[in-house]
Amino acid sequence: MLTPLIIGNWKMNNGIREAADLVIKLRELLKGVDSVDVVIAPPFTAIYHLSHLTADSPMQLCGQDIFWEKSGAYTGEVSAEMLADAGCRYVILGHSERRQRFGESDATVNKKLLAALRASLKPIVCVGETLEEREAGAAISRVTAQVRASLAGLSGSLVKDVSIAYEPIWAIGTGRTASPQDAEEVHNAIRELIYEMFGTHSARGVRVIYGGSVNAGNIDSLMSQPNVDGALVGGASLKAEEFARIVRFKHAAR
Ligand code: PGA
Repeated sequence: MLTPLIIGNWKMNNGIREAADLVIKLRELLKGVDSVDVVIAPPFTAIYHLSHLTADSPMQLCGQDIFWEKSGAYTGEVSAEMLADAGCRYVILGHSERRQRFGESDATVNKKLLAALRASLKPIVCVGETLEEREAGAAISRVTAQVRASLAGLSGSLVKDVSIAYEPIWAIGTGRTASPQDAEEVHNAIRELIYEMFGTHSARGVRVIYGGSVNAGNIDSLMSQPNVDGALVGGASLKAEEFARIVRFKHAAR
């Protein structure tokens, strides 16, 4: 079994003071957690400060995006190397909010993926279908096409550090979650594709996590699916007790 990966995606929330308060609460609530990789993705401005507060805790830091160049005349951008320098170990790439609002495409996600690995950041590549695509029966073909294009040109020796987050767009921030069975079906298809692309030996460490209205009430049934290796949590990750309960999901049904 892969080590579960639970990520809190704070999006554009929390200044430095609020971020520190939340992390201090989480440090208490997560004491003793050692069988789950717990990752938080604060806004860029809070990362360096939090790198000190998370040092002796189960939490690792994650960026919400990067640009693919190392440095240069790219006003407003932050590189993978800069995030690693500030204390990040992971980075979220191709979140649907970036795809929908900021012109992110599979091609840009692919460049960012290679840049993240160059800086030893572990990429979390987000994919997901729209409601129209799901209703047209095209969820799996859409998602597998995104995975294929986002991971193009990646060498098999690096794929183990990549995670895929399946986030159906209609489930993000809406309170509507994919049923555990629907999530499992897509996760299984993603895993099969990764095995086909990279071989089971290289790709067996790749984690496929679910995102979209994950909360303390639905995490146990999602994690009970054999191909759900973790969760990407938005809104519920801003509340310390709820996020801690998600991290402490019940393994029993697995
Ligand atoms: P949500 O967001 O949990 O608030 O639906 C998930 C995400 O966008 O990563």
